[in-house]
Parts: sequence; structure tokens; C-alpha cells
Amino acid sequence: MKITVVGAGNVGATCADVLAYREIANEIIIADIKEGLAEGKALDIWQKAPINVYDSKTIGVTNDYARTAGSDVVIITSGLPRKPGMSRDDLIETNAGIVKTVTENVIKHSPEAIIIIVSNPLDVMTYQAHLVSNMPKTKVMGMAGILDTARYRAFLAEELNVSPKDIQAVLMGGHGDTMVPLPRYTTVGGIPVTEMIPEGKLDAIVERTKKGGGELVKLMGTSAWYAPGSAAAQMAEAIVKDQRRVFPVCVQLTGEYGVDNCYLGVPVILGKNGIEKIIELDLNDDEKALLKTSEGHVKEVMSVLDRLNG
Ligand code: NAI
Ligand code: 2OP
Repeated sequence: MKITVVGAGNVGATCADVLAYREIANEIIIADIKEGLAEGKALDIWQKAPINVYDSKTIGVTNDYARTAGSDVVIITSGLPRKPGMSRDDLIETNAGIVKTVTENVIKHSPEAIIIIVSNPLDVMTYQAHLVSNMPKTKVMGMAGILDTARYRAFLAEELNVSPKDIQAVLMGGHGDTMVPLPRYTTVGGIPVTEMIPEGKLDAIVERTKKGGGELVKLMGTSAWYAPGSAAAQMAEAIVKDQRRVFPVCVQLTGEYGVDNCYLGVPVILGKNGIEKIIELDLNDDEKALLKTSEGHVKEVMSVLDRLNG
């Protein structure tokens, strides 16, 4: 198996590292535009192999897409991260151009690859990659739901003083403040979370989750990378190992949940063909209203992209 990670920055390098030490692919290409950066990160990860005991090979390239040819999965992390005070949507102008060029190059050399977008604004960059690649919607997807759900699960584990392993949850909608955590579908070792935690506390955790990315930007001056890089690697693993994992993933909705042509996070089954199935939950009226708000927001940013693309 061959996986390419485009962008050797914080998220891309972390993702490549996880792919390597977990031996998710035997060949991992890291590509960047900045001379020497990907080569250096790939060499550093390779030199860690004897210490962490793995044999996945990491190779770095600068703008050399021929070297990415025949990739089974391509993870696109190239693009600006936000700085304090910025929203993810503020990145659209720069990142739309980057995602366009990168997707064109990737598809030229790996026409069969499944593409995972990480660059922000996530839902709309997934739209951009889908437009540019012209591939089926099952093969172009965005990573955000696993990350947002992981933040929610981690906050809950901390509050309840239990292992994060035992918190199961699902979160839907766009990757932004309008995301839709679903307490009704959250369990702690199989027990509904609503039986474990008072409503006010749960509401506060939901609110913290929605602003989870911003909390880290404020602390570090740039956005997060450990959890995002690991989340993207987990999606790639589900695909290359045909695990049929159930994850929230950003995908084009064409009628599911009553949503037409919008890119939103929904629970899916992820396997060797990419999105094997979109799982349609029977949402209640409140949840439907929250998803509608999220759809409205993502559609606004999609129309900004349409204008940029002319
Ligand atoms: P970073 O600045 O550390 O790395 C970005 C890399 O992209 C740089 O090394 C840069 O040289 C490279 N790059 C820029 N243009 C390129 C091109 N045309 N071709 C190849 N490489 C190019 O940024 P970081 O922290 O890794 O974040 C990357 C992106 O991921 C940002 O847009 C950020 O907002 C997004 N992000 C998304 C998350 C999600 O949940 N979907 C979570 C965290 C970050
Ligand atoms: C995050 O949520 C910035 O989207 C990125 O950390």
C-alpha cells in the first residue's frame, strides 16, 4: 500500500509519522512546496524506525508528483493554518488555490486514489477537491468529525474521570462553531451519557467542543496537529485495511438527511472503496434544526468558493 501526504507541516508530518509507526502503509510519500522540508521530515521519521520498531518507508519530495504515482490514498494537509482571531473561513482564498493545484497534480498521477482533505475551511475544501477531481463522491472526503468527536470524548472522559476509550459518540455537521454534537447518541461503556452527567455540565462540554479548535489556536498561536494528524491517519487505515469503521466524515450529501449538494460531516462506513455507506440517523426536530443551521453556514462558504472559482 502507498499513501501520499501533501503538506509536510504540523498536521502532515504528524499524520505521516502515525502512518509509519503504525505500519498503515509500506510506502509513505510526503510532499511539500518548500524545498527540503518534506525530505527532512521523511528522513527524520525513517531514522525513528529502529527505535519505534517499524519498517514503513517514508520518502520526502519537493513538488515531485511523479513520485506520488499509484498512491492508494492521498491526504491533503497543504495550506495555511489559522492564527488567533481568524476563523477557518478566513483561509478560503489562499487555501482554495492550493487545494486546486494539489488535487490536479495528485489525480494526474494517482487517478484511482481516495482523497482525504484536511485543509481548512474543511467542508468547502472538500467541495473544491471534489469539483477539481471530478471523482465519485465516495472517493473524496474530509477529515473533521473524528477530530471533533475525539475532543468531545476527551472532555467527557476528563469530567467523568473514566477512560476515553469507553466514550463512544457521534457528531455531525460542518467543521466550525455550527457543528452538531449528539448527546442522544453518546455512551459511556454502553450507558447513555445523559444518565452519567447533569444537563448543564453536558451543555458546557458541547459548547467547549464547538470551540475546541479555537481554544488550541489561542494557546499556541496556530492550530492543532497531534489529534488532527492522527485522525487523518485513522481514516486512511480504515480504507487501506478495509476495516469498515464507523466514523463521522465530511462528504457531499445528495439528498441524505434532506440535504442537497452540501458537504457536511455525517456518520459513514469507511472501507476499501472509501465511503461504503452513509448512515442516516433518525434525528429529532432539535437535531434537525441544528443540522439545517450548519448546512446554511457551509452553503454560504461554498458560494464564496463558487465566486472565487468564477
Ligand atoms: P503548516 O503551516 O504547519 O503546514 C502546511 C504546509 O503546507 C507547509 O509546510 C507548506 O509549505 C505546505 N504547502 C503550502 N502550499 C503548498 C502546496 N501548493 N503544495 C504542497 N505543500 C504546500 O499547517 P498545519 O498546521 O499543518 O495545517 C495545515 C492545514 O490543515 C491548515 O489549512 C489547517 O487549518 C488545517 N487543519 C485542519 C484540521 C481539520 O480538522 N480538518 C485540523 C488542523 C488543521
Ligand atoms: C482544528 O479544529 C484548526 O480545524 C482545526 O483544530
